[in-house]
Amino acid sequence: MKVLVTGGAGYIGSHTVVELQQAGHEVVVVDNLSNSSPVCLQRIEQITGKRVPFYKGDVRDTELLDRIFSEHNIDWVIHFAGLKAVGESVAKPLEYYDNNIGGTLKLLEAMKAHNCKKIVFSSSATVYGDPERLPIDESCKTGGTTNPYGTSKYFQEMILNDVYKADSEWTVVLLRYFNPVGAHESGLIGEDPSGIPNNLTPFIAKVAIGQLPEIGVFGDDYDTPDGTGVRDYIHVVDLAKGHLVAIDKLTRSGVYTYNLGTGAGYSVLQVIHAFEKACGHKLPYSIKPRRAGDIAMCYASCDKAKRELGWEAKLGIDEMCASLWNWQTKNPRGYNS
Ligand code: UD1
Repeated sequence: MKVLVTGGAGYIGSHTVVELQQAGHEVVVVDNLSNSSPVCLQRIEQITGKRVPFYKGDVRDTELLDRIFSEHNIDWVIHFAGLKAVGESVAKPLEYYDNNIGGTLKLLEAMKAHNCKKIVFSSSATVYGDPERLPIDESCKTGGTTNPYGTSKYFQEMILNDVYKADSEWTVVLLRYFNPVGAHESGLIGEDPSGIPNNLTPFIAKVAIGQLPEIGVFGDDYDTPDGTGVRDYIHVVDLAKGHLVAIDKLTRSGVYTYNLGTGAGYSVLQVIHAFEKACGHKLPYSIKPRRAGDIAMCYASCDKAKRELGWEAKLGIDEMCASLWNWQTKNPRGYNS
């Protein structure tokens, strides 16, 4: 199949492009490179031995999308492009709504104009807000998001549902990611956050390599086994494979929603200790106040994806940490190393 990947030079997008190409799909990438590097695309080509047709530009650029859909017979769109920093979204709500919601609207309009009606959308566990029960399954209440980033994901899901309601020829797949971590086993592609990382595992990796002095653990008084926050970390390669099975298996129109996680929760301290095993030395950390907007526990029930798609995560926390450490040591300054 021919797949347009928006945000294909980004962290999850690039790992998905590799899996798609290796499975024999044809891929076209559009990315504005606002939070990614063209080096990533060369690295993908190095891994797969295949060229990655690339359009540098924004999904809000109607003319560009028109050109892409005219030049290629696209079967599926996998839509990753968007902004994703929670704190920044609170400071810049308009930028987030314009990029994320505006981008999705323009993309859907172009798809409709070119009669391409199959989309996989990069959603997030953030749409569950503070979850009503654990493990979180797909029928849990959504909404109640606490920041514009999360709200934009929730709104985009609603928009996609409405598109299907208006035209039942569409296939809409909403994939709700838990916490993607790790890197490709080659160490050629991985997460390359600009500046000081917001997320836990890239922060740990930078402490491990000596670029940051110590890890701050945001709260040790949560109602969790060791008091620190619990999350469902999933290896980015497992996550990427989830997209592949979605486009392979979902041949009938409809709206499909799946959690992609492992179903296991790890605390901040457990992740730090797992990373110590991977990097071979102790990591300095200290307990800090809770981070605003954080919840105590978040982990998935992934039974639906297993039952309906035959997908389940294969890689555990040790593989996640080892692959991240491999990427970090081979690329100490990310793609600019
Ligand atoms: C965050 C976003 C979420 C987004 C996801 C994407 C917030 C509040 N939520 O999830 O909307 O979908 O990333 O990957 O940002 N922690 C520390 N020290 C750190 C960093 C994090 O102790 O320096 C803790 C956090 O309190 C949390 C856990 O580590 O308990 C994971 O944090 P993080 O990696 O930022 O992910 P989430 O907050 O779960």
